[in-house]
Amino acid sequence: MDRGLLPSIQEISRRLRLGVYLVGGAPRDLILSGRLEDLDLLVEGVGEQFARDLAEALGGKVRAHARFGTAGVDCPGGRLDIATARRESYDAPASLPRVVPGTLEEDLQRRDFTVNTLVIDLGSGPPYELVDSYGAMEDIEEGRLRVLHDGSFLDDPTRVLRGLRFESRLGFRMDEATERLARAALNDGAFDALSGDRLRREVFRLLEVEPAGCIESKLKRFEELGLAGILHPSLRIPTESLAWIGRSATASLDLPADVTRVEGWRLVLPWLLGSLEPTEQQATADRLALRPEDRSWLLSSREDLERVIEVLRRAALKPHEVDRVLRPLRSEQMARLLAFGEASVVQWARRWLDEIRLVKLSLTGRELAAAGFGPGPGIGRALESTREARLDGSIRAEEELRFALNVLNSEGVKAERA
Ligand code: CTP
Repeated sequence: MDRGLLPSIQEISRRLRLGVYLVGGAPRDLILSGRLEDLDLLVEGVGEQFARDLAEALGGKVRAHARFGTAGVDCPGGRLDIATARRESYDAPASLPRVVPGTLEEDLQRRDFTVNTLVIDLGSGPPYELVDSYGAMEDIEEGRLRVLHDGSFLDDPTRVLRGLRFESRLGFRMDEATERLARAALNDGAFDALSGDRLRREVFRLLEVEPAGCIESKLKRFEELGLAGILHPSLRIPTESLAWIGRSATASLDLPADVTRVEGWRLVLPWLLGSLEPTEQQATADRLALRPEDRSWLLSSREDLERVIEVLRRAALKPHEVDRVLRPLRSEQMARLLAFGEASVVQWARRWLDEIRLVKLSLTGRELAAAGFGPGPGIGRALESTREARLDGSIRAEEELRFALNVLNSEGVKAERA
């Protein structure tokens, strides 16, 4: 955060007589890492007016979301997120909370873990005092995640999954009572009432694979707490799968920057569910309310990859055949291949990433058009065959045009101008 913003924040908070605070993630990460990254401000009162005045003072623009009592201010130094302090109540366990404006104290009470209740009062001026009403500092020192009240996981079972993320990200551990409450909420069926959308969102966040090594620890805790059952009652996560998933997650982080971004759930979930019957996998897809394309990824990406592996095992394989099977894969499947135990498969995957996929034709369709061949499927096929010949090393770059013209002639594609 740009500390130069603090005087403006303080001046406006005084003028509008509003409490303005840094709460939750920002003070937590400041204590833990010494860095203030996200500037998420909490305003006690009308956050929108504060956002407008702040934008004006900083020469920025406001984007207000009145329904959620939040606003973003885009200013030259970056983006600030402003939320209005709120009070929450749950009509039924696992339902979305009813939210009304509230005080700072009420905003703290609604929070999941003590480590998210630290407050820095920005309106009071330097030295910005840290307010710790729930013993968060002691929990941070002890590396402990602790819920604020016994009903926390029943109100919102996604907090159990958030807890696993925090454990892994902060290197903390739920204390005994909190873990007991998490298990009790699970046994009481708290997750059953959770909507598919909310469950999916939180499971997907849990399955993110960054930083390296985190996915094994998260999944190990997931299994330990008996959470596999929230994906399917018969799901178990064997230790061997964890090692295997961990290796592919590490491989995914080493992929070149220009391949598609790895989405953890795509890498982990199809293999995590590998021991389930197809109908059970379908039930999991239903439970997570997956979109049709994500559903088909869950149900078929593993088998698709197995077919590719069969091809890569063949003897006397040519680079263009490898390109044909590897080009359509997503980065998550490439990561699986790189982490695969079989040397020949791994070597082809490496060679495709480092060399084969990078081979570009110098020939273009425009040159074929200049030679009299108008647009049409024949041109695409000729370019494709030429590229394959280049990949296999059977022609050099300067032979591409002659080769493509031969393909067109042999296919009987007619030149429009002689
Ligand atoms: N919170 C909660 N229960 C949830 C989600 C959020 O109690 N299911 C509370 C937490 O105390 C959190 C605050 O709302 O501090 C803001 O949540 P979020 O925006 O998710 O921020 P972070 O705690 O920073 O989490 P993350 O870094 O993962 O986004």
